[in-house]
Amino acid sequence: MKQTNSVREAFSLEGHRALITGSARGIGRAIARALAECGATVAVHGVRASDALDQSLADVRAVSPASAAVTGDLGEPGCARALFTATSAAIGAPDIVIANASVQVRRPWLEVPEPEALLQMQVNFHATYQLFQLAYPAMRQQHWGRLISVGSVQEVKPHPDMPIYAASKAALENLIRNLAKQCGADGVTVNNLCPGVFATDRNAEALNNPVYAEKVRAGIPLRDFALPEDAAGAAVLLCSAAGRYITGVTLRVDGGMGIA
Ligand SMILES: NC(=O)c1ccc[n+]([C@@H]2O[C@H](COP(=O)([O-])OP(=O)(O)OC[C@H]3O[C@@H](n4cnc5c(N)ncnc54)[C@H](OP(=O)(O)O)[C@@H]3O)[C@@H](O)[C@H]2O)c1
Repeated sequence: MKQTNSVREAFSLEGHRALITGSARGIGRAIARALAECGATVAVHGVRASDALDQSLADVRAVSPASAAVTGDLGEPGCARALFTATSAAIGAPDIVIANASVQVRRPWLEVPEPEALLQMQVNFHATYQLFQLAYPAMRQQHWGRLISVGSVQEVKPHPDMPIYAASKAALENLIRNLAKQCGADGVTVNNLCPGVFATDRNAEALNNPVYAEKVRAGIPLRDFALPEDAAGAAVLLCSAAGRYITGVTLRVDGGMGIA
């Protein structure tokens, strides 16, 4: 067990390599930037090349020059493996994986077609599981690793029009508890970072409706939506030596929304 000398050192990610899926925008982008600021070499990721991905890469390279960008649609078969291979080629085998990308479709449950349900389960749950499988052997070998899924307050407060999305996130919460028990002896922590309502692209249209926005706000104890940067500190904690004794937890960054 390595003891760190100072709080600053405990939060340092120098020497680590992080893949953050879905980090062209939103929460993933803020997390990627924070990890890079703490010294990690980062692979930012989007479905495809885009201005947003270029900007996210420029952000992380400003503080961590060896960082890189990778692309791929995690709804496609074989994407997780291709993404892991591309990441390893670009920055080395990642010892931090944050599975942040997700697909979220609003539709009443009786109308959800099978392909749409399977796509959400594939991207949100199965691709996370696959990336964890792929990254684990190198983590085990160096006796250090961080596997982090990104869940949702919908694990405990499912939206009636997002039943598959909510279920895919609840599955992650179960998965990390299972894996945390199995990976701890290898020096690998496994956790679930769980956002509430964040003002990101996916919510822009809904939150632009003042009546709806006020209704949502009223259900949040802290009475406001989060900004992407609000997830960054929690991610750094879970990734760093400061969080070395935290495993198997769902860490809610939700303004209290998920309180039972
Ligand atoms: N925003 C919220 O209020 C909220 C609440 C609870 C949980 N969450 C969770 O937090 C995470 C981030 O959410 P966000 O709001 O920051 O997302 P966002 O702004 O909508 O960005 C989503 C990112 O995921 C990527 N992505 C989308 N579909 C993908 C696919 N099929 N394969 C690979 N990558 C894909 C996108 O790539 P491109 O940029 O190339 O399109 C983008 O970079 C998600 O897991 C979400 O479920 C968010």
